[in-house]
Amino acid sequence: MIITIDGPAAAGKGTISSYLSQKYKLAYFDTGMVYRAVGLQMVLTGTDLQNKEAAAEIARKLTFPQMMELSLHPDFRSDIGGQAASIVSAYPDVRSALLKMQQDFALNPVFADGSKANGVVYDGRDTGTVVCPHADLKLFVTASAEVRAMRRYKEFLQKGMSTSYDKVLQDMVSRDQRDSNRSSAPLKPAEDAVIIDTSELNIDEVIAVIIPLVEAKL
Ligand code: C5P
Repeated sequence: MIITIDGPAAAGKGTISSYLSQKYKLAYFDTGMVYRAVGLQMVLTGTDLQNKEAAAEIARKLTFPQMMELSLHPDFRSDIGGQAASIVSAYPDVRSALLKMQQDFALNPVFADGSKANGVVYDGRDTGTVVCPHADLKLFVTASAEVRAMRRYKEFLQKGMSTSYDKVLQDMVSRDQRDSNRSSAPLKPAEDAVIIDTSELNIDEVIAVIIPLVEAKL
């Protein structure tokens, strides 16, 4: 079973993916991690984020263990990591270099402890359109920019990161624009995706919408 969950930042993809991964024993691939790893590596090495060739070179050399190591850095999940990821993810050579790693994950899906999974939940922007166009179920999860910015702002506060709601909203809008308008794999629902707007729903209500869709595919 392969499920793809695409949509803009802080729409609820991660929470839904974790829930489905546990309930149906599916491995979880948060594909934003590959772009965050490349973006953060650029930042940490002082490389200009506009340098497409350097970004592609880092992407070609990136391994799964390196990505996991970079994910421990405090800026991996911060605004700095998110903006850097959004910039490098617009480069077609970066995307093509990172595609195989993402697709290969479904060939032998395993959990972190090495045990076998029943399939994969992919979370990202293009997992239903490019990474896994033959997925069993495709979801496109979205919410208004204001609702998503408030969710992300609260997450940052909980993690002790200092920022303001206005700054988070501004970053979110600029990231949405860049992700939606890039020429390579722009953020958009697959034609056969089910679109779910979570602006007015809590997580239990979202899950109640999704479970029957998954059960229908089992
Ligand atoms: O989902 P996350 O916020 O971690 O993604 C960081 C950035 O990586 C996104 O803003 C987007 O630019 C990029 N991304 C992408 N394609 C994916 C996943 C993430 O372009 N499948």
